[in-house]
Amino acid sequence: MKVLGIETSCDETGVAVYDTDAGLRAHALYSQIALHAEYGGVVPELASRDHVRKLLPLIRQTLAEAGLGIEDLDGVAYTAGPGLVGALLVGAGVARALAWALEVPAIGVHHMEGHLLAPLLEDGPAGRPQPPFVALLVSGGHTQLIHVEAIGRYRLLGETLDDAAGEAFDKTAKLMGLPYPGGPQLAMLAERGRPQAFRFSRPMTDRPGLDFSFSGLKTQVLLAWRDSDQSDRTRADVARGFEDAVVDTLAIKCGRALDASGCDTLVVAGGVGANKRLRARLQAMAEQRGGRVAFPRPAFCTDNGAMIAFAGALRLRAGQHDDASVRVTPRWDM
Ligand code: KG4
Ligand code: ZN
Repeated sequence: MKVLGIETSCDETGVAVYDTDAGLRAHALYSQIALHAEYGGVVPELASRDHVRKLLPLIRQTLAEAGLGIEDLDGVAYTAGPGLVGALLVGAGVARALAWALEVPAIGVHHMEGHLLAPLLEDGPAGRPQPPFVALLVSGGHTQLIHVEAIGRYRLLGETLDDAAGEAFDKTAKLMGLPYPGGPQLAMLAERGRPQAFRFSRPMTDRPGLDFSFSGLKTQVLLAWRDSDQSDRTRADVARGFEDAVVDTLAIKCGRALDASGCDTLVVAGGVGANKRLRARLQAMAEQRGGRVAFPRPAFCTDNGAMIAFAGALRLRAGQHDDASVRVTPRWDM
């Protein structure tokens, strides 16, 4: 089954073809970062318009790279939520129209299920991870620990009570004057920072439980930054202190989640999963425990069409699909 995947929930237009026999055939991504940079964040109306401009050319490009004609598709999957409503509607409208014209089934995919299954697209040294496992979902909108008992059977173990990890990266970057999108910039800066120059707390690790809270950490950084000399060197040191605090906190909770669920495999997904120090820290933890950690390649940690094509293909192959109405769910629990 060859399934076209379409991702338009926020500021990236992602398209891919996943083949249930041959695997990922092609994928393409267009990022709107430059468009939104001058506003310091995503402008929803501009995002929708840019998806309208880019989606069809990207679908053509992806099909050409896969060596397929549009009539070769057996199904269409699109992100139905959560996300920006206008942006979601672009993907849903195009996906529905294509499926209707081609007389193939279409399915709306939960964006976070896409992220959650992205590590299963990759062949690691020990093959592809299979459930049961614990998933750490760390994106700009979510921070969750999920026990994946089977594909489609998800149990929430813990989540953030305030800011998501990616959001904390972005807000912290902004308060130190870094340009949008701050997360990756802050991580780059932290590479030059000294490890112990600033030490911030590891929120909610001093008590049992698997929930997170990152907004207090951001305030700690704000105060430290405000009272500092605000030099380039200090900015790097603060970035390092902040990154170490987030990475440590995530690693401590991941260890606890593995203990609580009895799993030995951890998969990591979502944009913050691209963070090098987090990857190294979780890898070390897994080795120490005699367990395993799996990550998507960095390009499939952030938003992309491949994860949507893959999650949709699994559901379509299992016989699921939606009726023909164009419906999106901007706020949606998985
Ligand atoms: O999954 P994603 O692309 O979009 C959402 O669904 O939210 O995640 C984007 C988030 C942003 O907050 C971004 O700052 C963060 O992931 N991010 C990073 C890194 N790369 C992306 N945070 C820390 N280190 C990185 N290398
Ligand atoms: Zn995402």
